Amino acid sequence: MFKVDQSPVEKKFVQNPYVFYREILKEGGVCFWKNYNQKAFFKHETINKIFKDKRFGRELPLGIEQIYDKELSNFYRIEKNSMLELEGPRHSRLRGLVIRAFTTKNIQRISRDIDTLCHDLLHKIKDKETDLIENYAKQVPVITIARLLGIPEEMSDQLLKWSNTMVAVYQADISEHTKNLANQSSKEFYEYIEKFVNERRSKPADDLITHLINAEEDNEMLSFDELISTCILLLNAGHEATVHTIGNGIKALLTNKVECRFLKEKDWQNIVEEILRYDPPLHIFTRFAYENLTIDNIEISHGEKISLVIGASGQDQCRWDRPSEFISNRPSIMHNSFGAGTHFCLGAPLARLEVKLALKNLFENKKHIKILQKPEYADIYHFHGLKSLNVEMN
Ligand code: HEM
Repeated sequence: MFKVDQSPVEKKFVQNPYVFYREILKEGGVCFWKNYNQKAFFKHETINKIFKDKRFGRELPLGIEQIYDKELSNFYRIEKNSMLELEGPRHSRLRGLVIRAFTTKNIQRISRDIDTLCHDLLHKIKDKETDLIENYAKQVPVITIARLLGIPEEMSDQLLKWSNTMVAVYQADISEHTKNLANQSSKEFYEYIEKFVNERRSKPADDLITHLINAEEDNEMLSFDELISTCILLLNAGHEATVHTIGNGIKALLTNKVECRFLKEKDWQNIVEEILRYDPPLHIFTRFAYENLTIDNIEISHGEKISLVIGASGQDQCRWDRPSEFISNRPSIMHNSFGAGTHFCLGAPLARLEVKLALKNLFENKKHIKILQKPEYADIYHFHGLKSLNVEMN
């Protein structure tokens, strides 16, 4: 297998990682990525197959002890009870407790609220020139997930700050400063949710937190730490990637000059899937192998950690015609941007709805939208999203 040296924080790469991905795909779609010290898989089919293969998982294999970074003790206190980091019965139990709230049918019930939220946010933007990331893309998902859980909306800015500093831990080569910030945010976030849950016990409401509290009190199905971690996971996962998808989507539609004003419901659904394929918000996930095995003639050892470059799988010519092009009416086939298998994104129906409504409202209400400066992607590899999107609109 060939070895590749490609810094994930190199400026050119951050702005357009797809050039590198296509090169690797041309060379067979698998390499040893030196900067991560891992074998990395880029092909759509292979990644999909590994996501669904029970011989791989996110949790460390039995017998290998997790070495926690002491500086991140508060962060790991949350992570170790998060369904995203677990496998087997614990994962199924935690996922089972919240999955019902996120089914397509249940999510459709809040469709009108999200629609009104998008409309109101746009109405609030009075200036002709605005940053659509700050004033729109960031607001829709955070307010929606806060409402679903029952957290006061006024907390949105604080939730964004806590979440942004926590997810920075997933970047390559993080500094001590980033670690300290993430740990401090984890502590504050934990304490806030802890206090909130305790208050909610005496004042139940029709929200997801009350539902989780009932699960904790009634059947001992959920420990207190699991309850807190689940809330924090939903709040963090519930907006980070969606913000970037809305931002990347607006950019893709404007730069590719897609005529968005008289589109039908089905067209919007296709556009959302094309955005998720063409410029997804999350680019890399890892898996541990639970036994010695061979995938596409590549040997992987028990305990080995591998990278699945989902950002690249949308560029795979074996799966897509003309993958480098944004084709707004591309016939929809499943991409890997929400993962697959046991950890398939639990919030996918919500994310799809939010992205669709955010884009539809923007392009139906604003006749003229012009990008003012070339938008730059932020250096937050793993997450792929814009720093800002300054536009003129009316
Ligand atoms: C466009 C937006 C989103 C994208 C691209 C996305 C992507 C993903 C991916 C790829 C995974 C699987 C990770 C893995 O297998 O290692 C995942 C898991 C997850 N996502 Fe999302 N997500 C999005 C929005 C949301 C939203 C809105 C929620 C709201 C609650 C959410 C909640 C979760 C949760 C809880 C998991 C863990 C599921 C499990 O471990 O069983 N996501 N997401």
